[in-house]
Amino acid sequence: MKIITDKYELQEFTKNTTKSIGFVPTMGALHEGHISLIKKARAENEIVIVSIFVNPTQFLAGEDFSKYPKRDIADKKICELAGVDVVFMPDISMMYGDDEVTIKAPNVRGFILDGFTRPTHFDGVLQIVLKLFNLVRPTNAYFGRKDAQQVILIKQMVENLFLPINIIDCPLIRDLNGLALSSRNAYLSDDEKKEALKISASLQNATKLIVGGNFNIDAIKTAMLETLKDVDVEYIEMVSQELKSIKQIELKNTIILVAVKIGSTRLIDNLWI
Ligand code: PAF
Repeated sequence: MKIITDKYELQEFTKNTTKSIGFVPTMGALHEGHISLIKKARAENEIVIVSIFVNPTQFLAGEDFSKYPKRDIADKKICELAGVDVVFMPDISMMYGDDEVTIKAPNVRGFILDGFTRPTHFDGVLQIVLKLFNLVRPTNAYFGRKDAQQVILIKQMVENLFLPINIIDCPLIRDLNGLALSSRNAYLSDDEKKEALKISASLQNATKLIVGGNFNIDAIKTAMLETLKDVDVEYIEMVSQELKSIKQIELKNTIILVAVKIGSTRLIDNLWI
């Protein structure tokens, strides 16, 4: 496995291959969710490239950029064991200069949900993903459905900017207790981890109602809020799988999204139904 820190070296590598490239962009602190993306990329491509870069432009002032978990040694080992060919680990000056051309998330879908509570977050995500795509030139790029709005906006960017890349969205992975895997789970104390289980429990509650034939958004929201009693809920929303508003649950075309704060840790989870 090759470790590349220089963008020109990566560009040289990807320019000189005619092989299919599967790309998994990450911010490191890799967990089973990332491993599932890497395994899929490994199965579907001749070359697999993983990037590890904690992207400053997607964090708002006061967010956890400076304390975001860093586990470079463990991450490299995980990539090696998962059969990755290249890990790209640039530093900030390699990826950003002064007075940059920027990219803006779309006005509607980029400004609801996380785009509303974290304005400019998706501008930063799209900017770094576009830069990485231009260096890696992947055939296929893999993203988890855990960050539902992110993957939908990346698909839109690829479509709007005519990028010749397939975006593959992959299932959200949970631990045995149901907690959605996230690098930010590392911030949770044992008590907070228990509290965080209310998030997946609220989604299970929603599933029960829907399976029982209740498609009423307000009723489902109320039931979820009951399960999330005493939790600081930022939002519970139900939208279509294109992030458009819906009047009631539409089977095979709905995402239920939740964002909460457990202690000082912001967690998101969702269900695609
Ligand atoms: O999902 C993430 O880890 C990040 O938002 C991404 C896509 C690697 C961009 O920094």
